[in-house]
Amino acid sequence: MDNINKTYFIQTFGCQMNEHDSEKIAGMLEEQGFVAAEEREGAGIIIMNTCSVRENANNHFFGQLGVVKNIKEKHPGTLVAVCGCMMQQKEIVETLKAKYGWVDIAFGTMNIPEFPQLLAERLEEQKRVISIKESQDTVDDGIGALRKFRHKSFVNIMNGCNNFCTYCIVPYTRGREMSRTPEDIVNEVRWLAEDGVKEVTLLGQNVNSYGNGCDFDCDFASLIYRVAEVEGIERIRFMTSHPKDLSDRLIEAFTKCDKLCHHIHLPVQCGSSRILEKMNRHYTKESYINLVDRLRAAVPDIVITTDIIVGFPGETEEDFQETLDLVNRVEYDSAFTFLYSIRTGTPAATMPDQIPEDVKHDRFDRLVDAINSITARKNALYVGRTEKVLIDGKSQRGGSGMCTGRTDGFKLVNFPCPAERIGNIAEVRITGANTFSLTGELI
Ligand code: 5AD
Ligand code: SF4
Repeated sequence: MDNINKTYFIQTFGCQMNEHDSEKIAGMLEEQGFVAAEEREGAGIIIMNTCSVRENANNHFFGQLGVVKNIKEKHPGTLVAVCGCMMQQKEIVETLKAKYGWVDIAFGTMNIPEFPQLLAERLEEQKRVISIKESQDTVDDGIGALRKFRHKSFVNIMNGCNNFCTYCIVPYTRGREMSRTPEDIVNEVRWLAEDGVKEVTLLGQNVNSYGNGCDFDCDFASLIYRVAEVEGIERIRFMTSHPKDLSDRLIEAFTKCDKLCHHIHLPVQCGSSRILEKMNRHYTKESYINLVDRLRAAVPDIVITTDIIVGFPGETEEDFQETLDLVNRVEYDSAFTFLYSIRTGTPAATMPDQIPEDVKHDRFDRLVDAINSITARKNALYVGRTEKVLIDGKSQRGGSGMCTGRTDGFKLVNFPCPAERIGNIAEVRITGANTFSLTGELI
């Protein structure tokens, strides 16, 4: 392997799980002496880590693959590897085999630890290598992953999902839910703390069902307490929480565990109980609002963010008004909004009354306007407050001498700050607010 161009470029699509998987792949490549390339063109190996949660993600991938083909024609030695959720869809792999014979390596979401062997095989045998597991027996750790930040890290606590929301492809691409043991997770967190990490984000499709059906006795709240015992860790975050499984013990953990950040991403998806039932979400508009009220009663300064889908099959204007009403009642700090996208193989794909694109777009625009005005109003309340901010790095905005960081509640703040302080927590007085960020000054 020594006589090849040992530079790599990873292009990641989709969620934090994929981002973290890419960090693991980068770590494995660096272990073998590869270094990151500045640009995709000219890299020895190009890796595309794909997402299939919405159809435009699929289309975007094939568009990008066309560009990569041109690069490979110009630089024939370039290796191309594709991985991630799209590889778990049989029809995609068939398309790759039939039309994209020039792709060197394809591997699935559960084959990441095998990547070095797959690469070696490709180099030795000079033929395409495809390896896709249908189910997993272990959850791999992130030790050795190449982190984007020195001072903070993702930690995978579980893989897969058992919820089968009727619109969602994830249970088919990431397999059944499987939790790592608490010992394994705490070991990784200790290793990270020794390596300079101060903030960990515990990752799972639904962290609230951590430990379900396992032979160890540790639920998600207990896991948080155990992670909090690790010396050097100052902040704990998590992502994502299904409202149906959020326990009183987790709400209590926010009040008892100082290291647990006051932010929760609590995807509601829709405000109409009728549609929520069709989505197979197992809660109603009322029970969700009740949950938010309980969270706020226990943790008054908690920041609540969400995901919302508009245009699910059968959604009427009245259903959509219920979503607007819920958004106005909960007053989210921010929300990701999605146009419903048909995913072949999911139950919603064949439901009647699919919503026309123009209606979806019109509702989407109205929802985004409502959310943005709430976000701006809520951000304005921060002006004059002092917040603890973990300084992440230099800011892209506001010129040199500006840094960016996150408050405990995950609000983005830009402020003048010497670069030596990057990676530390500082007190920042908030002096201004926009829809998507705050501005401030160090105290
Ligand atoms: N169409 C639109 N949005 C979707 N999501 C998941 N599946 C779909 C789909 N088919 C959204 C959900 C989820 C987020 C990660 O992506 O809101 O919480
Ligand atoms: Fe998809 Fe629902 Fe699982 Fe989230 S909980 S990954 S939306 S099936």
